[in-house]
This record gives sequence, structure tokens and C-alpha cells, in this order.
Amino acid sequence: MYELKGVTKRYTRGKETVDALAGIDLTIADGDRLVIQGPTGGGKSTLLQMLGGLDRPTDGSIDLDGTDLAKLSESRLTKVRSENIGFVFQSFNLIPTLSAQENVETALVPLGVKGRERRERAAEALKSVGLGERLGHLPGEMSGGQQQRVAIARALVKQPKVLLADEPTGNLDESMRDEIMDVLETMWKELGLTFIMVTHDSAIAKKAPRLATIRKGKITVKENAGS
Ligand SMILES: Nc1ncnc2c1ncn2[C@@H]1O[C@H](COP(=O)(O)OP(=O)(O)OP(=O)(O)O)[C@@H](O)[C@H]1O
Ligand SMILES: [Mg+2]
Repeated sequence: MYELKGVTKRYTRGKETVDALAGIDLTIADGDRLVIQGPTGGGKSTLLQMLGGLDRPTDGSIDLDGTDLAKLSESRLTKVRSENIGFVFQSFNLIPTLSAQENVETALVPLGVKGRERRERAAEALKSVGLGERLGHLPGEMSGGQQQRVAIARALVKQPKVLLADEPTGNLDESMRDEIMDVLETMWKELGLTFIMVTHDSAIAKKAPRLATIRKGKITVKENAGS
């Protein structure tokens, strides 16, 4: 479970300062699904980075299951991240010279999972997103929707507690968008993950059981909006 208190992120460039996050209080229960929307520059990606331990707040605490991510050393934060948190971004961020299977395997390297088990788990994860027949394909040999599936398999292969997705369908056309949302939805239900997703897609936002809006670094949360 996440418990955020007074999370502030201030960026300073020369004389200018921006409070990308201006005092966020937020609780996210295990297995919850939270959709985040809001205008560009509002602080959505910044919040996701804080939740994922990719960056630290200027002020406030980010408690994940009893550990304050804001206070962890870099090496312990890296460990929490590689064990517990899966990321999916708008850009698929696959390594172009590696096959689908090898791309998924990269998530298991920091966990010390070796050769054969690593290959098997990667193949299994790719099967679960419907890419069992594409293990040996390079990213360049796959459609955008397929590449994003590989990225989802890479995020989930380590069986994280938390999946963070920042506009995961932003680079996809409409049919692939639905396809990827279906995959994410299924994974969330099957794996019992905590799933936090930023989206500009108002159709998705409308259906969300819990919808957060971030504007100028402030958050408001609505329960059961339209679901
Ligand atoms: N590394 C950085 N250095 C300085 N300012 C930054 C940095 N990252 C983000 N910002 C600023 O923080 C604010 C919030 O940015 P953020 O990327 O979180 O917005 P967003 O809601 O994700 O927007 P979008 O919908 O366009 O992705 C913006 O004003 C942005 O310019
Ligand atoms: Mg963003």
C-alpha cells in the first residue's frame, strides 16, 4: 500500500522554480487501480516517477509497505524498484538489437535469475500477453501494439507488486489502444497488482473506478466515477 503525505517536487532552473508537485496526499490500497488524468504539465509524470522511486521528492514522504522511498539510499531504492515495480511508458523503450524474449529477460538480470529459468519466465510472460509465437522477433519486426506488449511482459515478468503506466497507449492507433488496454486490464485482474496509469484518453478515464486529476501539482480523487 502507498501512503503519500505532503509530497512536493520543486524543480529549479536558474532563478525560476516550478512546483511540479505541490503537496500531494494520497493513499493507494493493494490491488487498487488508479487512473490519473489532467492537463499537460500538471505533474502526472512527476508523480509516477516518485511512486516508482525513479526520483525523490523535495519534501514529503512516500511510504510503500512501510518503507519511505523518499529516505532510501540510491542502492536500496534501485533494489525496491527492480523487485517490486514494473513500468510501462508511452515509448516502448525496447532494445532494438535484442529479441522480444531477450528484452523481457533484461528485467530479471538485476534479480540474479539465471539462464534457463530466465528464458522460461520470459517466454511465459510473452505468452501471457499473446506473443508466444514472437519470442525471436526483433522490435523492428513487430507492430507498435506488439512492441508495447513486449514492454508489458518485461514490466510483469518479475511479478511486481505495482505496475505504473505513463500514457501506455499514447503512441498507438485506436484499435491497438483498445488491445493494449485489454491486456493491461486482464493482467491487473489476474495478477492482483496495484495498477496506476496516466492517460489522456477520456473514455478510459470515464470508466475508471477511481480517478485522480492532477492540476498545477495538486491532486483531487473521485471514487466510482461512472463505473
Ligand atoms: N526535469 C525537470 N526539470 C525542470 N522542470 C521539470 C522537469 N520535469 C518536469 N518539469 C516541470 O514540471 C511540471 C510537471 O511536469 P510533468 O512532466 O510531470 O507533467 P505531465 O502532467 O506529465 O504533463 P504531460 O501531460 O505533458 O506529460 C512541468 O511544468 C514541467 O515543465
Ligand atoms: Mg507526462
